[in-house]
Amino acid sequence: MLRICVCVSGGGTNLQAIMDAIDNGSITNTQIVRVISNNKGAHALERAKSKGIDAIAVSPKDYDSRELFNSAFLSAVDAVSPDLVVLAGFLVVLPPEMIRKYEGRIINIHPSLIPSFCGKGYYGLKVHEAALARGVKVTGATVHYVDEGTDTGPIICQKAVEVLEGDTPEILQRRVMEQAEWVILPQAIDEIARRHQ
Ligand code: GAR
Repeated sequence: MLRICVCVSGGGTNLQAIMDAIDNGSITNTQIVRVISNNKGAHALERAKSKGIDAIAVSPKDYDSRELFNSAFLSAVDAVSPDLVVLAGFLVVLPPEMIRKYEGRIINIHPSLIPSFCGKGYYGLKVHEAALARGVKVTGATVHYVDEGTDTGPIICQKAVEVLEGDTPEILQRRVMEQAEWVILPQAIDEIARRHQ
């Protein structure tokens, strides 16, 4: 059984897609052992709790320094010994010591076709604003392994989504989620789970 720890910051629709895929059998051999949010008010925490999943907040606001927050965050992950850490709409830069410790065992979903519209400052709605400002006709989403750069790790899978006339950032974000993110993140987890003993 692949033990996964899912890190979230907001609404948690990607977390929901993972939980639904586990329930309907499209993700096999996988258990969510903990959901961690950097944001106490994240709706994602309620989604997890309503399924009886251990869900906690580790907020930088409760720590005097970034170092103390980083170490508390890493301890919260270590405590459940996950095989895989899934960043599902997690909008905080991970502590470098965590990236080293979990090398090859952290994946992230990013709402564009990397290497477009990624890296520092490109997260959430900002990605879709930038795509519309550039006038691209196709965008999409990417699941990749996390390394010490921002959105620079090896790509696992990508799915393209059309940009349509009249799109707003919100409309485009929703289409990218529905047609790409909620499809390829569960797929990537299932592929990893199938390889896991
Ligand atoms: C998703 O679109 C995800 O791809 C994005 O944040 C949103 C979270 O939504 N992540 C990033 O931008 C990471 N750089 P959710 O909380 O509903 O899953």
